[in-house]
Amino acid sequence: MTKAAKTIRERAGAAPIEAVLVLGSGLSGLGAGLREPVAIPYAELKGFPGGGVSGHGSELLIGEMGGKRLAILTGREHYYEHGNAAAMRPALETLAGLGAGALLLTNSAGSLDPAIVPGDLMLIADHINYAGINPLIGEPTDRRFVNMVDAYDPGLRGKSHEIATAMGLALKEGVYLWYSGPSFETPAEIRMAIGLGATAVGMSTVPEVIVARMLGLKVWACSSITNMGAGLSDERISHEHTKAMAVQGAAKLEQLIPALVEAL
Ligand code: HPA
Repeated sequence: MTKAAKTIRERAGAAPIEAVLVLGSGLSGLGAGLREPVAIPYAELKGFPGGGVSGHGSELLIGEMGGKRLAILTGREHYYEHGNAAAMRPALETLAGLGAGALLLTNSAGSLDPAIVPGDLMLIADHINYAGINPLIGEPTDRRFVNMVDAYDPGLRGKSHEIATAMGLALKEGVYLWYSGPSFETPAEIRMAIGLGATAVGMSTVPEVIVARMLGLKVWACSSITNMGAGLSDERISHEHTKAMAVQGAAKLEQLIPALVEAL
């Protein structure tokens, strides 16, 4: 057991954690839906994210949602902060070791599809690792050869569509392309991403999905669309704009996620 796992068990109890939820840019408020939360600052958990990006939380919450024991990472660490694509691996390994069988990921993303607009939710069906880096580089065992077919669990995707329909919530679906960031894309890069078959672009999530699939976790991921890709509209893309626009998607995720956790 990792040192962080010991700390978590001491603070939050030894009952197994059933699922993990990662909150993206401007979405850190989603942790409010957790019952009887125990909060542990990342700074006290060895290997957990550094908490260096504004709009991201910097603590782990453990509590109950939808009848399940859930761990919420209120902020993530990104490849663009330092060039380490495996930054989230220690946290994910620790939580998988404490019992988690599913990883739910949220992020903010730019849409490439005129039918998916700011404020919409886009379920991720598949991804394109355009950053060209992989968090498993350096992993010495054969575990590194991870199969990425159906990496975004088809069963969980189906359930989310059923839940969203029952709630009257529009839930789109598409392919997420990972650009390393931290600069936003050029209009030419956005046109290329469209040509490659992407539906949305963002700077996170993909490395976590790869690590999670190696660990055998079921993965679900959803983008809160905060803007159209660079050059596709007149709005000026910025981190401030992303954080401000994330509020609309957050309200929808607040409805969707507890029901999905219950159905896990
Ligand atoms: N590009 C990359 N990442 C993003 C975007 C974008 O347009 N919007 C929110 N995160």
